[in-house]
Amino acid sequence: MKYEFTDDYLTGIESIDEQHARLFEIANQAYDLLTDQFVTDKYDEIVRVLEELREYTKYHFKHEEDYMKSINYPKRFSQLHQHAQFISRLESYNLEEIDMAQQEGLLEILDFLASWLQGHIKGMDKKIGEAK
Ligand SMILES: [Fe+2]
Repeated sequence: MKYEFTDDYLTGIESIDEQHARLFEIANQAYDLLTDQFVTDKYDEIVRVLEELREYTKYHFKHEEDYMKSINYPKRFSQLHQHAQFISRLESYNLEEIDMAQQEGLLEILDFLASWLQGHIKGMDKKIGEAK
């Protein structure tokens, strides 16, 4: 089952919602890779998806952090902290281990993304929209 960007993820801030939707699209590339039975060696694609996710997430966090600053959002420090943790998790994947067990590696990435996207967007980002 793919990640579905449903209405309950919306913050009401257009640019942030568009970027979140893009994050879901990238996450779904990892899902497509998991279920693709025709590619036997998925390593290069896994590395590419992780890289895209990392780059886009950095771009998105910068935007979200600038926005929080512009409205003087009181909880922006816990946001910054969670963002930093997310990036460091994305940077800490052991690519050799993933190469040895690619499906397991993809599943681990997918589980992490599912819980993070859900917990962070619904638990924290939606509150930024409410503070407008
Ligand atoms: Fe955030």
